[in-house]
Amino acid sequence: MSHVRIFDTTLRDGEQSPGFSMNTEEKIRMARQLAALGVDVIEAGFPIASRGDLEAVQAVAKEVRDVPIAALARARKDDILAAVEALKPAKSPRMHVFLATSDLHLQAKLHLTREQALEAIGSMIKLARNYVEEIEFSAEDAGRTEIEYLCKACQIAVENGATVLNLPDTVGYAVPEEYGAMFLKVREHLGDPEHITLSAHCHDDLGLAVANSLAAVRAGVRQIECTVNGIGERAGNAALEEIAVALAVRKDSFGVATKLNLKELYKSSRLLSEITGAVIAPNKAVVGANAFAHEAGIHQDGIIKNPLTYEIISPETVGVPSRSLILGKHSGRNALRQSLKELGYDASDAELAECYRRVTSLADESKNIRARDLMTIAHEVIRRKAIAVANETSSAA
Ligand code: KIV
Ligand code: ZN
Repeated sequence: MSHVRIFDTTLRDGEQSPGFSMNTEEKIRMARQLAALGVDVIEAGFPIASRGDLEAVQAVAKEVRDVPIAALARARKDDILAAVEALKPAKSPRMHVFLATSDLHLQAKLHLTREQALEAIGSMIKLARNYVEEIEFSAEDAGRTEIEYLCKACQIAVENGATVLNLPDTVGYAVPEEYGAMFLKVREHLGDPEHITLSAHCHDDLGLAVANSLAAVRAGVRQIECTVNGIGERAGNAALEEIAVALAVRKDSFGVATKLNLKELYKSSRLLSEITGAVIAPNKAVVGANAFAHEAGIHQDGIIKNPLTYEIISPETVGVPSRSLILGKHSGRNALRQSLKELGYDASDAELAECYRRVTSLADESKNIRARDLMTIAHEVIRRKAIAVANETSSAA
């Protein structure tokens, strides 16, 4: 089965959005977890942005040895040299050079002609290639770039040494058919060379980031750029956990696989939430506190008879802590409080008492309380008071 690489940009595109900034120590913690999750590339920062970010990239590169580390640079000499310095300690460095290619960005933001932009792409990639072997080029705002010009920009990037071509939908404007078609055209133009990897990078302004990324996979893209919990500029980036699970659950449809360890998804999500203090919406797909909770009686009945009736992913698949499975009628309130916390619920004393009453009554009927049973109880009693507390066991691991 063909492999789709997961390029995680939680520490760069995710981190650059308001409320999500991370210091070096936090980036290292998150990067270790991303390595455990099995991502293929970690984009650790934008070194020209600040000395702190440059040092954070260096620290991540020193700490995480078995995952390629990427650093972002505009197509400018100073940016590239800062990224070179940041990537020095990396075992497998990747330089990520970008320049906008849409007429709107060229004229309004960069004041460059199309020809000047092509010249900058070629010369700056050539410069970067003197220092780092693996170069990714991103055509910022590719989604709104005239296609012939985009093809030309990609060709120049390849001729000067880029081996990964990322075509971002920077402003979340694309729709799936259109975004996929753009990749097909670029592939055709380049003659589909084997050593070139096409990459998708989608923002969620219209709520289509994951759908667009998946459409790109159908069009032959073999790298997806995404972030844990979908954090990122404005409405965010494509959510890593949603892409991972969609590709796994619907491999019959996509016919590709990632190397991710899905059981680390929940832990990754909770750790990021703990580090940034940003609460995960209870109804968030895959990792939200309600993602496996069932409220309607008919649904609860179906789930008890056969979970497949209303669940296409089991909580265990994505690593919802299974320690709650040991809860039984002899478990104490403290164990229950801890299990609830691990599932993202912060119970008041009254709520804990009610959960306890329900758990013991359920334990009288069935010996084991499964994670999903506890989630259903918590969902009913605690009324979606999901919190962003990562369970201590998870974050310490
Ligand atoms: O959204 C975007 O275009 C980006 C690029 C810098 C890759 O984040
Ligand atoms: Zn972006």
